[in-house]
Amino acid sequence: MKLVRQPTTAAAASEPLELEAEVAVVGGGLMGLGIAWRLAQAGRTVVCVDAAAAGRGASWAAAGMLAPYAELDFDEVELLELAESSQRLWPEFAAEVAAAADADVGFDPCGSLVVAVDRDDAEAQERLFAYQRSRGLDVERLGGAACREREPLLSPRVHSGTWSPGEHQVDPRRLLPAVEVAGTRAGATVRRGASCARVEVSAGEVAGVAMADGGRVRARQVVVAAGAWSRAVDGLEPHRPPVRPVKGQMLAVARDPALTLGHVIRSPDAYLAPKADRWVVGATSEDRGFDDRVTAGGVWELLDGAYAVVPSIYELELVEVWTGFRPASRDNGPILGGCDVGGLFFCTGHYRNGIQQAPASIDGVAAAVLGRRVPASLAPFGVGRFGAAPRGVR
Ligand code: GLY
Repeated sequence: MKLVRQPTTAAAASEPLELEAEVAVVGGGLMGLGIAWRLAQAGRTVVCVDAAAAGRGASWAAAGMLAPYAELDFDEVELLELAESSQRLWPEFAAEVAAAADADVGFDPCGSLVVAVDRDDAEAQERLFAYQRSRGLDVERLGGAACREREPLLSPRVHSGTWSPGEHQVDPRRLLPAVEVAGTRAGATVRRGASCARVEVSAGEVAGVAMADGGRVRARQVVVAAGAWSRAVDGLEPHRPPVRPVKGQMLAVARDPALTLGHVIRSPDAYLAPKADRWVVGATSEDRGFDDRVTAGGVWELLDGAYAVVPSIYELELVEVWTGFRPASRDNGPILGGCDVGGLFFCTGHYRNGIQQAPASIDGVAAAVLGRRVPASLAPFGVGRFGAAPRGVR
């Protein structure tokens, strides 16, 4: 197989849009598509616009690990509550998408093994383990030999690990098109190659979105779910979301039937997520704006980190490399729900945890748009927590 470097593609230009809907959703990643689907299910007319030809943002780039604790700090209690509520929703959400789209979304309740290769890693893991137990999680500390018994491809260097049977994974490359199919079958309109320039607001109320090519979608409600690009949408002052891109380089190796990895493996330097046809290895974390280059250093770091814990990766064919842009907010928490501009909602800024936090975020923001009760776990994440940004400041 030829190595593919996946580009961040824009779709070919088409006729400018002139549409009217009850809700316009800006961004066709997992959040935007999921919200469009939920709103269409509730009988709303919805148009979802995205600049790219097909999902090419963070949702498409992600490894799809559903591990609420792995990438959060102990003191991020509100984030943990949101993450835990989302984790509870995941099995049903995956089944519902799969049924609505007649698709396999790669939901895999495989559990994860977080491994340590030295004493320092092990001590950090012991602290996280104690915290997980204090929150009632089903986790187990294993010695090196027990880790290898569970996952025979692990290196003899693995010192110890934490086994989490409640951590799952999904395949974003399957999930994303399935959510789009579910949404369009429910009646949502999804327009790709349609770049939103501005949210139009008149007398404190949303009026629609203006497209970069002069087109327009008239709507009394707008959801901004454009991931790392959310801040580039004009017209959002004083609530322009403080979201920046954090680059992640990733790669995939072809799966070899003779080499089986049964669980998501995480080490301090890399993670390996075994999918049906490949292992996904991630990820670097770089503050470099929208630099989408895959570098030799990035690939080396990932392979070095993966090889330290699963040496057999050396034998496998490298089939793809890519970059993604995590949408990181100023406090690393997502930006969810409405604000004091009538009809304006956000679902962005999920940083490293978008796929995991998707079901709770999608359902919660859809509830806000529909005027229904919003779960309390979303309350800390309004855009208002950042205060008003001065006009013109990006
Ligand atoms: N959640 C995985 C990553 O951000 O790399």
